[in-house]
Amino acid sequence: MHPLRLAGLSAALLLAACKSSPSHEEGKPKPAPVHTPLASDAGAPPVTGPDDVGARPTSTATDVATGRGGAVTSAEKNATAVGISILKKGGNAVDAAVAVGLALSVTHPSAGNIGGGGFMVIYFPDGRSTTIDYREVAPAKASRDMYLDKAGNPTEDSRRGPRAAGIPGDVAGFAMAHEKYGSLPWKDVVMPAVELARAGHVLDHFHAEDLAWAGREIDKYIGELEAAPRKNDALIAALKETVGLFRKPDGSAFKPGDTWTEPALAGTLEGIAAGGANAFYRGPLARKMATEVEKMGGIWTAADLAAYKPIERKPIIFDYRGHTVITMPPPSAGGITLRQILGASEVLGLDKLEWDSVDRIHLYVEALRRVYADRNQLVADPAFVKVPLETMLDVKYLTRRMSDIKKDRATPSKEVGAGVQLVEKPQTTHFSVVDGKGMAVANTYTLNGGFGARVAIPGTGVIMNDEMDDFTAKVGAPNMFGLVQGPQNAIAPKKRMVSSMTPTVVTRGGKLRLVCGSPGGPTISTTVAQIVLQVIDHDRPLDQAIAATRIHHQWLPDTIMHEESLDKATAKALAARGHKLTSRGRIGHANCIEVDAKTGELRAVADTGRDGGDADAF
Ligand code: DON
Repeated sequence: MHPLRLAGLSAALLLAACKSSPSHEEGKPKPAPVHTPLASDAGAPPVTGPDDVGARPTSTATDVATGRGGAVTSAEKNATAVGISILKKGGNAVDAAVAVGLALSVTHPSAGNIGGGGFMVIYFPDGRSTTIDYREVAPAKASRDMYLDKAGNPTEDSRRGPRAAGIPGDVAGFAMAHEKYGSLPWKDVVMPAVELARAGHVLDHFHAEDLAWAGREIDKYIGELEAAPRKNDALIAALKETVGLFRKPDGSAFKPGDTWTEPALAGTLEGIAAGGANAFYRGPLARKMATEVEKMGGIWTAADLAAYKPIERKPIIFDYRGHTVITMPPPSAGGITLRQILGASEVLGLDKLEWDSVDRIHLYVEALRRVYADRNQLVADPAFVKVPLETMLDVKYLTRRMSDIKKDRATPSKEVGAGVQLVEKPQTTHFSVVDGKGMAVANTYTLNGGFGARVAIPGTGVIMNDEMDDFTAKVGAPNMFGLVQGPQNAIAPKKRMVSSMTPTVVTRGGKLRLVCGSPGGPTISTTVAQIVLQVIDHDRPLDQAIAATRIHHQWLPDTIMHEESLDKATAKALAARGHKLTSRGRIGHANCIEVDAKTGELRAVADTGRDGGDADAF
């Protein structure tokens, strides 16, 4: 609850840009790789968002809290406190999760806010489970090539400004979760967020730094717009208003310990407390948002907002070494990716190798290379394309897929294509809640990049997301996370963009064992997989599993991304096997809860060393 915070420097990750022209023809699953030519290994954009804030510490510090009555772990202390107070008041895990989600929209604006979307996995004490997909959808006026310039090259429009934003799902998703599975009155779960916004809350070091970072980024953006030949005055005015939200009235930056109030957002949330999701999606607020966005040059309409619907979906459920894993189906690729990584660990016998050994890391990375080749080319919104889900989840398929891994040599990614041929062509946040009866919520939601599109809708405090960048703007061109994705995930009106979010619950013998998730774009699924593997295969306590050095590979760019703490000799040995390596400051921010298998005690862990946060339990 009082985490140790360390200062240090982290480098921005420069992801290598790779062009590919994957082949997508009809056919059956094939073990043989499709060769995917790579044009270049350089020049990709850096990951944006507070991941590249510059002064970010990476440490192994975690915040651990134990209890039996309930537990909450999130990216921010006031939000965790809101969740605990809802549980103490008799609310269930869903009540607390919705209250935490809305509170984070006030206290963790780089990722939370109500202008984004996400995924929630709910586990019930009787063993049932469900998920809520409240991912953003593309506006009706969106089109496949909307982010390409005249020369056919991707523009910045999918990452900044009003055209970057999908129609948000947060408020509808939380309202659906609460209506179906909550127990307290709606107002009770919304008002804590209103109070935090209205009365203000004290900023910690991480969040003061986030606001200062956002201010600097928006200043740069305004400068670019002011220098442009054709000025967008409405957008410039909205950006000036947005920067004003993140600074003191005298224009100076907030410091840790300062109190931050958000009156505009308080008003919006108050409307939602009184009128439910309708207050956001229909009526005066919706009309105002649509009008303001249009003025700034965006394509949202009031009809888009009125048409938004969250979707309750059946979770992906699979067995793994005596445990049951419950996780998110498409349009998130997270669940499939997690299943494939854990399946590969079984197929390759990774549990028998030491966690930090070069042999295990080599095989693990080779598995990731193949898993992400599939993820990037095969997974998209199932309402628009056929995702070969059954095949991708099948252990026989995984066994074939892993069969060409060499024990002592990296396979270049250009020799690895998707394993199934098709007919057709920073900032996120995760929180976990468990109540005294064993009901659990794993929730990951996001604006995508840090502070999303970097612009708030005037007068509302609603920050727009830049989730449209998760679509394939152009086949073969990397997105902001360096992901090279296929035509399955092309932009279409009302389509949901593919995601990596992996909110996950693990049970054993019908009893809750782990609730987990993380931000980090494509590194989300590997972060969750590494925690689950350590807890199940290596019997490590959750705080150690969270603290451990993270390693990631996503097929393209063809490099192992690793935290700075990776042992130097191990890095050298991996390079000797033909791997490229890229060091980055930190990967993910996993706020998870485990249930002690013997005593039934809850252990909430916040990944404080990587990005602050707070765990609490009673
Ligand atoms: O849905 C996704 O996969 C991305 N929009 C997540 C972005 C993210 O995690 C950024 N955080 N560091």
